[in-house]
Amino acid sequence: MAKKRVLSGMRPTGKSHLGHLHGIFENWRSLQDTYECFYFAADWHALTSEYKNPHIVEENIWEMFVDMLSAGVGTGENAGCLFIQSQVKEHAELFLLLSMITPLGWLERNPTYKELLRELKNKDIHTFGFLGYPVLQAADIIIYKAHFVPVGKDQLPHLEITREIARRFNYLYGKEVFNPPDALLTEAAALGGLDGRKMSKSYDNAIYLSDTPEEIRKKISQMVTDTRRARKSDPGEPKECNLYPFHRLYSPKELQEQIAEDCRKAAIGCVQCKKLLMENLIKGLDPLWEERAYYLAHMNEVKEIVYQGTERARQVSRETMAEVRDVLGF
Ligand code: TRP
Ligand code: SF4
Repeated sequence: MAKKRVLSGMRPTGKSHLGHLHGIFENWRSLQDTYECFYFAADWHALTSEYKNPHIVEENIWEMFVDMLSAGVGTGENAGCLFIQSQVKEHAELFLLLSMITPLGWLERNPTYKELLRELKNKDIHTFGFLGYPVLQAADIIIYKAHFVPVGKDQLPHLEITREIARRFNYLYGKEVFNPPDALLTEAAALGGLDGRKMSKSYDNAIYLSDTPEEIRKKISQMVTDTRRARKSDPGEPKECNLYPFHRLYSPKELQEQIAEDCRKAAIGCVQCKKLLMENLIKGLDPLWEERAYYLAHMNEVKEIVYQGTERARQVSRETMAEVRDVLGF
């Protein structure tokens, strides 16, 4: 039986951090074993907010692919197909056609849209393109007839719109061209940033895959911990500590348990706890850094992987568009 298809995209808006690694890339990597995977740089989507600095988007694309490859996405025996959205023009054609059948109300009511309008106050995103963001996303997904779309919770409204659009297309033109895709909800890794808020570039609280060991040591030492441990003799609660989830990812099981116990008895101080984490984190990231250095030194290889992936994506998109034009009688 043919493998089911998975597709997901990421806007190339900046360097990847540990939140991306544990929240997205690791999940994308393991999906490759079970599904036929398509992963792409959503550079047109990035343009909806970065249209004043389009060159930034282009620079970020390659950095993003290097990070993905270093994390095992797009490599190995079952490598997923990596491609660039803007290099598969069929997405734009389908976007245009879908825009004809998408009621404005679906877009105006979209909670993610309303939230971003509030959040990105410093960016002028009162544009047609930004309102149509979910329609382009729907085109991205259904042009590959993807069965599953791994996304975070914030993307669920977009996926719901995608399903509605797919159904509406089939209904209007009397043929089951598109299957409404299902979300594969990614359990957001419970990783806070240095300040305890969600790890994010815009909060300036992230640990990047490109950070050096020195930068990591410095960042960890600045990290907020359980606020009840004002003095070393005050007991703490790892469950309330911003740092502890990193131990869960990077420290051996016995050490995790030891730390939890000692933290609750105030037998270990946060400074010492951080030192243990620094070394384990650096050790844990070392294989990824090695891969990263390799790809950075072999950018031609990175480009070749993406060019081939883009070629494959084009093939699939062309087939779907032939079917779509046929159904519309164009
Ligand atoms: N909107 C997604 C995000 O911000 C990126 C994206 C664009 C996407 N097209 C997609 C994700 C298609 C999944 C499928 O993260
Ligand atoms: Fe957090 Fe470790 Fe400090 Fe406990 S000892 S509060 S787990 S940093």
